[in-house]
Order: sequence, then structure tokens, then C-alpha cells
Amino acid sequence: MSTKQPWGNTVDVEFDDQIAFVYFNRPEKKNCMSPTLNREMYATLHHLEMDDRCSVVVLTGRGAAWSAGMDLKEYFRETDNMSDTFKMRIREEAAAWQQNKLRNHAKPTIAMVNGWVFGGAFTPLNSCDLAIASDDAKFGLSEINWGILPGGNVTKSVADSIGMRNALYYIMTGETFDGKKAAEMGLVNESVPHDQLEKRVRELAKVLMQKDPIVLRSAKEVFKRVRYMDMETANDYIYAKSDGSQLRSGGEFRSGAMKAFLDDKKLKPGLATYQKDKKTGKAAASKAAGGKSAAKKAAVQKPAKTTKKASVKKSGGKKK
Ligand code: COA
Repeated sequence: MSTKQPWGNTVDVEFDDQIAFVYFNRPEKKNCMSPTLNREMYATLHHLEMDDRCSVVVLTGRGAAWSAGMDLKEYFRETDNMSDTFKMRIREEAAAWQQNKLRNHAKPTIAMVNGWVFGGAFTPLNSCDLAIASDDAKFGLSEINWGILPGGNVTKSVADSIGMRNALYYIMTGETFDGKKAAEMGLVNESVPHDQLEKRVRELAKVLMQKDPIVLRSAKEVFKRVRYMDMETANDYIYAKSDGSQLRSGGEFRSGAMKAFLDDKKLKPGLATYQKDKKTGKAAASKAAGGKSAAKKAAVQKPAKTTKKASVKKSGGKKK
């Protein structure tokens, strides 16, 4: 199902299986981010936090690009002669979704990187909780190639995600790299052949959907905050968030899982997620790796490993 409201024309959303596939929707402009797109993306993400059709957000691009970064025409050149207040306003609008709404989204977020990722697009990429790339996606900190440094917190986001040597190399050379290299540097979780990209993202989304959503949200919030705290503050903060999330969720998932493990012996939480039976509300033995055989099965199951054999193409991803 596809609908235009409330996302406008530069963003599109498709709902399937509790996943909201959110598209950068300017394929003819390689999905570069104009002031309009920034506003529409904010409205979209804001809306999806309250939309029951969405348990996981997947951010991806229509056509050959994930996003070719900020729009050099509409975001830069056309605003060069505008007032300082106007320029600050459009920066705020970009940051509002790229650095704030997306990074702190109520639902889990996955970047499904289908093609080109340049410059400013690194910020929303790093704001997604998880990222899976096509092997032949192409990334580049191209700002230096056209005479600016990576702003919009791109520099900070790569300092955080790929480390000093990698970040400075790509900031200073403007060279591109592919999905496999992005995975090797930790910019994305993994890269897969292009034709397996959506399948892998769907699998990952399903895993996330099995968790207690309130605790899952707190877990990612905690991670994002504690990195900048000292040990004592972090320890206190984590306990406070943990207690808060149990209170908000009702603690049923936790107590049900403990019962399934400690009393009923139907769950090995080291090997599988607790799942409430939709009808009875009790632990679902089969689904939750209940019993010894299931535990054994879970123990021998290899994680959904992805092959990385696809040839690297010169251009970005394929058209969807
Ligand atoms: N800003 C504005 N317009 C952009 C854009 C951007 N970041 N990226 C692509 N476009 C536009 C092109 O100007 C072109 O518009 P036109 O059809 O009106 O001429 C259209 O999108 C198609 O791009 P094109 O360059 O013809 O496609 P390509 O497949 O040959 O190359 C890229 C794709 C992504 C390699 C190339 O467009 C590019 O280098 N873009 C700039 C990337 C960049 O440096 N981004 C950093 C911004 S912070």
C-alpha cells in the first residue's frame, strides 16, 4: 500500500508486514536532500512514531541512490543570498530530522542502503540504529571535491562511526568506497548482494519486532546517551532508564521470560527471544526456542550470515 499523506512528494512510504519503508523519493535528483525534503521527512518520521502500521522504520531510496547528500542547488546555491536567519532556519530543519527525530525515533530504524550515499547523507545514515548496505552501494565524503568541509555533523558522525584514520582518509581525499568496505569499517552492520538486500532487512526487522518495544526503545536511547557520560553518571542513568522502561512496559515481558526460563524450562534466553503467545499471553514454547530440542536447534543455528561475493559495480545501486 502506498499513500501520499502526510509525506508529500519528496518522501514516500509503503507499509508491509509492520514495516514502514520510507523512501527518499527524488530519484531523478539522486534523492538529494532539499529544504522541502527535509521538512517532509521530519513530518513523515514524526507521524510514523504514532502509526500502528509501523513497528520498524526502514529508510531507503527510490532508484539508483540512497541519497546523494544535500541538494547543491536548492539547499546551497539558491540560499547563498538569503538572509542569515533564513539560512539558519533551513539548517535547523535539516538537523531536526537527520540528527534529532531519526536518531531518537520511537521505533527501531534500519538504513537499507541501495545505492549512492554522499556527503550530508552520512548524517541520517549514522542516525539510523542499524544499517545494511548493498555490496555495490557507493559511499563518499565528497564535500572536499567541491570545496567545503563535511558539515551538518557529517564530520562528527564519521568520527563516531569509522574512527580517526578512516574518517580523515575519506574526508581529505573524497574517494568513494563500496558497501563491503563500509561494512568492514563499521559504517554499516553488513553488506549483502543487491538482490538480497530487502530480504535481509526484512529478517532483521522481524527480529526487532519480537522484543518488548518499550525496552527496545530505552536500550537504544541509553546507548546513544551513555557514550558521553562518565562511569558513575552512566551507571545511575542506565538504572533509572531500566526501571523506567519496566514501569512503562508493565514488566510482563521480563517476568514472563523469567518464568519461561526458571520455572517452565521452556526458554533459553541466551539462545532465543521470549515471545508471548498471542492467544494465551503465555510463553510460546515452540516460537521461543522452548524446550531442549528447540534450544539445541537455536544453539546450532548459524546467524543469518550473508555472502559477500557480488561483483562491485562502477555505478551505485540498481533501480528498484
Ligand atoms: N545536489 C543537487 N543535485 C544533484 C545532487 C546533489 N547533491 N546529486 C545529483 N543531483 C542531480 C544532478 O544535478 C542531475 O540533475 P539534472 O538532471 O537536472 O542535471 C541529477 O541529479 C542526476 O545526477 P547526475 O549527476 O546526472 O547522475 P550520475 O548518475 O551521472 O551521477 C552522482 C550521480 C551521485 C555521482 C552525481 O550526481 C554527484 O556527484 N552528485 C553530487 C554528490 C555530492 O557531492 N553530494 C554531496 C552533497 S553534501
